Amino acid sequence: PESNNGLSYEDCKATADWLLAQIDMRPTVGIVCGSGLGGLADLLKDQVAFNYKDIPNFPQSTVHGHAGRLVFGTMKGKPCVCMQGRFHLYEGYPIQRITLPMRIFKLLGVQTVVITNAAGGLNQDFKVGDIMIIKDHINLPGFAGNNPLVGPNDERFGVRFPCMSDAYDRDLQQLAMEVGQELGYGAFLKEGVYCVLSGPSFETIAECRMLHLLGVDAVGMSTVHEVIVARHCGMRVVALSLITNLAVMDYGSEEKANHEEVLQTGKQRAEQMERLVSSVVNRIEPN
Ligand code: 6GU
Repeated sequence: PESNNGLSYEDCKATADWLLAQIDMRPTVGIVCGSGLGGLADLLKDQVAFNYKDIPNFPQSTVHGHAGRLVFGTMKGKPCVCMQGRFHLYEGYPIQRITLPMRIFKLLGVQTVVITNAAGGLNQDFKVGDIMIIKDHINLPGFAGNNPLVGPNDERFGVRFPCMSDAYDRDLQQLAMEVGQELGYGAFLKEGVYCVLSGPSFETIAECRMLHLLGVDAVGMSTVHEVIVARHCGMRVVALSLITNLAVMDYGSEEKANHEEVLQTGKQRAEQMERLVSSVVNRIEPN
């Protein structure tokens, strides 16, 4: 086929150039704020912000808890661009559209992407409020053909068959762990495997048990497709999950997953998450 639901290289370039024409700074770090973690963007100094609806070719964020702004500014002196609010599969956009901002990041000059999300904990050692450094993922929608790179490949972005065994940069994982320890977060800093589902329904008990058997530590509805597109075009990635609730694993439980709990935990741990991200950003070395 000639095209897919994504945008051509030229369309992406037009969007990036439209943004670059209006800002003086040149971001080298891109940040994605997860549910309830939009406060990260407020840490940026000398902000220039754009509503998604004003950016050519951008989808719009429809989820409560996600603001819908692209914010430029410096974090501890480093030029950054931050997605305050992201796009999810369950909003109904084509998967190639959801990941468009990663390609815009790339064309803006971003080298490293820091991704955050809210996730449900499956690892029995996890507690609500833990922060998990993602070391690997399972792209479950991808098994069924829902991969953001499906469609014609433009080599200007990357190769047809990108490697994913090094998706999560080892040095950056180590950096996040070190920085977290230094901040005194050792007791609630974990690492593990993240699995994405398309949502919007939360998992059944049987699904949680299945994912647990497969070695999944946390489950959510985002991040993985962004990581795939970011790696495809050669950006380094580090990703952090805030464990906002524990997935229900047994039939006797009265617990029910709900979005309010996700936002509530986000609020409580948001400050620590923000401090961790800004300290990691501070110590990211240029490529
Ligand atoms: Cl329990 N499941 C999914 N799919 N996403 C979540 C979650 C659970 N908690 C936060 N986000």
